[in-house]
Amino acid sequence: MEKFAELPNEHMDKILILVDRRFGYDFTGYARASIRRRILGFMGRSGIYTASELEYHLLNDETCFPRFLQYVTVNVTEMFRDPGFYKALRENVIPQLASYPFIKIWHAGCSTGEEVYSMAILLQEEGLLERTKLYATDINSYVLGKAKQGIFPLRYMQDYTRNYRNSGGKEVFSSYYTAKYDNVLFDASLKKNMVFALHNLTADGSFNEFNLILCRNVMIYFDRAFQQKCVDLFRQSLCLLGYLGLGTKESLAFNDNARAFEAVDQRWRTYRRIK
Ligand SMILES: C[S@@+](CC[C@H](N)C(=O)[O-])C[C@H]1O[C@@H](n2cnc3c(N)ncnc32)[C@H](O)[C@@H]1O
Repeated sequence: MEKFAELPNEHMDKILILVDRRFGYDFTGYARASIRRRILGFMGRSGIYTASELEYHLLNDETCFPRFLQYVTVNVTEMFRDPGFYKALRENVIPQLASYPFIKIWHAGCSTGEEVYSMAILLQEEGLLERTKLYATDINSYVLGKAKQGIFPLRYMQDYTRNYRNSGGKEVFSSYYTAKYDNVLFDASLKKNMVFALHNLTADGSFNEFNLILCRNVMIYFDRAFQQKCVDLFRQSLCLLGYLGLGTKESLAFNDNARAFEAVDQRWRTYRRIK
């Protein structure tokens, strides 16, 4: 008979506490159903059937935790994801940013970097890339390594070209990369002002003052308390009148910080810090 991995609530809590105490990654405030699905998926593909087996591997096999971390964080992303978001950014936010002599942008939860390369292209076209520093952070070192490379699969370029055009892109998209075999390499000039670093949104503090923070499709995996922590951090990290861009399924509606922000664009979840 085939065996299936199981993870009753109290066993899942034990695993999450172990991961926090031993490795310093707190997943206790991630949406329960989603984190359970991810852990079960990891157990299934690793041939682990019970929480105690998983505990054993986490404690005794040093390759287990990096694989666990890699699997439980959802890293799906794309270039110019939700093109309307970038279009609204170009129209409503970029003209304001252009009035600053120097611009700092933080991509929090940048995954493999498609979002930050999209932003660099947009800034280049608006004449702002030279005076912008782009900070791209994530909890997962594997995806950060990929982001630094700026190499993406060629097979996605058709979709990304469409997204780019719909986002208000002004050039020929393929002029930004060189194709080689099955991959494309984005121009080095785009990453000149990018800084990549590990940063955990629920444990680490503020590290700069930004004019714009993008944290899209990250808080969707957090419970209310973690979302609260995260927005506290963004409020501390934004200059007055700085902008915050969230994913289409995210909002500040139930956050204690809601009054510190005004909506710039409700449809595309873009806010501005007003206190
Ligand atoms: C679904 S991706 C979103 C990528 C990109 N922002 C986008 O919208 O396309 C979510 C990213 O958040 C990262 N993440 C999850 N928890 C995090 C945390 N506590 N701190 C920082 N990054 C986190 C994951 O590793 C993953 O790369």
